[in-house]
Amino acid sequence: SGPATVSPTGQATAADPEHMAQSETYLTTAQGARLYETDHSLKAGPRGPVLLQDHHLREKITHFDHERIPERVVHARGAAAHGVFEAYGTASAVTKAAFLGKGVETPVFVRFSTVLGSRGSSDTVRDTRGFATKFYTAEGTFDLVGNNIPVFFIQDAIKFPDIIHAGKPHPDREIPQAQSAHDTFWDFVTLHTEATHHTLWNMSDRGIPRSYRMMEGFGVHTFRLVDAGGATSLVKFHWKPKLGVHSLVWEEAQITNGVDPDFHRRDLADAIEAGAYPQWELGVQVFPDTADQTFEGIDLLDPTKIVPEELAPVQPVGLLTLNANPSNFFAETEQVAFHVGHLVPGIDVTDDPLLAGRLFSYLDTQITRLGGPNFAQLPINRPHAPVNDMLRDGMHQTAVHRGAAPYKPNSLDGGCPFTAGEDMGAYVERPVTVPKGRKVREAPASFDDHFSQPRLFWLSMSDIEREHIIAAYTFELGKCYEQAIKERALQVLANIDPVLSEQVAAGLGLPVPAPTVKLVNPSPSPALSQVGHTWPLD
Ligand code: HEM
Repeated sequence: SGPATVSPTGQATAADPEHMAQSETYLTTAQGARLYETDHSLKAGPRGPVLLQDHHLREKITHFDHERIPERVVHARGAAAHGVFEAYGTASAVTKAAFLGKGVETPVFVRFSTVLGSRGSSDTVRDTRGFATKFYTAEGTFDLVGNNIPVFFIQDAIKFPDIIHAGKPHPDREIPQAQSAHDTFWDFVTLHTEATHHTLWNMSDRGIPRSYRMMEGFGVHTFRLVDAGGATSLVKFHWKPKLGVHSLVWEEAQITNGVDPDFHRRDLADAIEAGAYPQWELGVQVFPDTADQTFEGIDLLDPTKIVPEELAPVQPVGLLTLNANPSNFFAETEQVAFHVGHLVPGIDVTDDPLLAGRLFSYLDTQITRLGGPNFAQLPINRPHAPVNDMLRDGMHQTAVHRGAAPYKPNSLDGGCPFTAGEDMGAYVERPVTVPKGRKVREAPASFDDHFSQPRLFWLSMSDIEREHIIAAYTFELGKCYEQAIKERALQVLANIDPVLSEQVAAGLGLPVPAPTVKLVNPSPSPALSQVGHTWPLD
C-alpha cells in the first residue's frame, strides 16, 4: 500500500492532492498546524520589526517565490481538455493496438497550442498550432503529438534549434516574431528552402484557425503499424474536425487579438462548458511497407511531404469527443508531458530523421521543465495501465517503493517475475531491416525537392485563398528590414508559381525574379479573379 492519504481522524493530508483545495473552515501550514491569522506577519509589537522566527510568513513567501516553472521551450501557450476516444474497429485490419479495437473507449487528454509565443501571448497569431493527444490505454499511454499542418519546416531534427532560434523573438530586442521584426524567420526559411512547404501553409488561411475546434490535426511523420499476425504497414495519422476546417481572415485575427487575446482558449472552454462537445475523427492513410518506403514516388520518411488524399484516402478509425475542461490549468494543461516515444504494441516508429530527434528531445526537456525525472507520477501523466518499473528515487519522488531488489536478474524479490513476451502484451520493436550504408551526415537525394509540393498546394487553392496567401506574404515580408531577405523570398516564391511571385513583388515594389527550378506542372495558375476588390490588396 502507498502512503496514507487520509489521516487517522479522517482529515485530508498533503499526500491526497484531490483534497488540497481550500475546503475546510480553517487554514493550516503545510505541516498541518492550524493557523489563527494569515494577514499579518509576527512582529515585536504592531509598529516593531518583523521576527525571523515567523515560520508561517517564511513558508508562505518561499512557496510563492517558487510557484512558476519554466514554460515549454516551444508550444508554451496552450489550452487543453479531457475526453474520450471510441474506436470503430476498422484499424484492427492493420494494427493490433488494443485501443483501436471495435467499440473500445479510451480516456484522452488533448492540448492545443501555438508554437512560438510565450505563455502569455495571444491566441489568434499566424503560426502553426500543436494538436497533442494522450490516449490513456489499457496497454500503456500512447501520445500522438501532432500539428494542424501536415508537413514540417525541416527534414532533420538537428535543424530544430535553428528554425526555432530564427522564429523566436530577436535576441537583442526580444520583439516577438508574430507581429513584427521578421528578418530572422525569413532569413532562415529562404536560405533553408526545405521550409518552403510549411511556410506556405503558414501563410495560407491554415495559419490563423477560427477555433481549435475547427482544425485538422496531423501526426506528420509516417508511422509503422503492426497487425496481430506481425504484418506491417506504413501510415500517416489525420484528425478531421466534425465542425469542418475554418479560419479567420487576417483583419478578424488582428482585431480579435486586441479584443480578446484568449479567444481560442475561451472558445474551447466555453463550448465544452455549454455541452457543445467538439469532435474529431481519427483517420489513417495506409501505404505498403516497401523496402524503399516511398508511395507513388513520394518519400514517406520526408516530413516536408504529404501524400495527397486522392492517392491514399484517409480511412476513419475512431471518434474523439472532448467533454470536460481541466479543473486546474497548472496541474493538467501545464504539467502534461507528451512524448512521441510513448507507444503501444501495434504502433512503431520509422526512420524519419526528424522523428528520431524528437524521440530524444521531449523527455530531455521535460526533466528540466518538470523538475527531475519523476513527472510521470503527476496525476495528469500517470498511465491508466499498471506500472511496474525499476526506476527509483530522484527529485520529487512520491512513490514509496517496496522490496529490496530493483534490478534484474535478482533472486530476492520473487526472482523478478518477467520478462513478458509479445503474447503477454509486451511492446516489441519490429525487427525491420535497416538499409546498409556508410556513416555520413547526408540526406537522401529524394529530400532535395523543395518546391513541387508547395506548387501542388498553391494550385489547389481557390481564388480567395490565393489572395489571402499573397496578402500574407506581402504583409509579412513587408515587415523585414533587410532588402536582400525580401529579394531571396521572392526567388523562393518564383520557384513555386509566377502569379504568386509577381503579385507579392508588386506589393513590395520589387522586381520579379525568374524561377531557378523547373516548375513541376508548368501550366500557369489561373489568373486571379477580382473578388470584389482591387489587387494587390492594401
Ligand atoms: C512540444 C509537435 C518537431 C521539440 C511540442 C508540442 C507539439 C509538438 C504539439 C506541444 C506538446 C504539448 O502540448 O505539451 C511537433 C511536431 C513536430 C515537432 C508535429 C514535427 C513533426 C519537434 C522537433 C523537436 C521538438 C524536431 C526537437 C528536436 C519539442 C519540445 C517541446 C515540443 C522540446 C516542448 C515539450 C515540453 O516542454 O513538454 N511539439 N514538434 N519538436 N517539441 Fe515538438
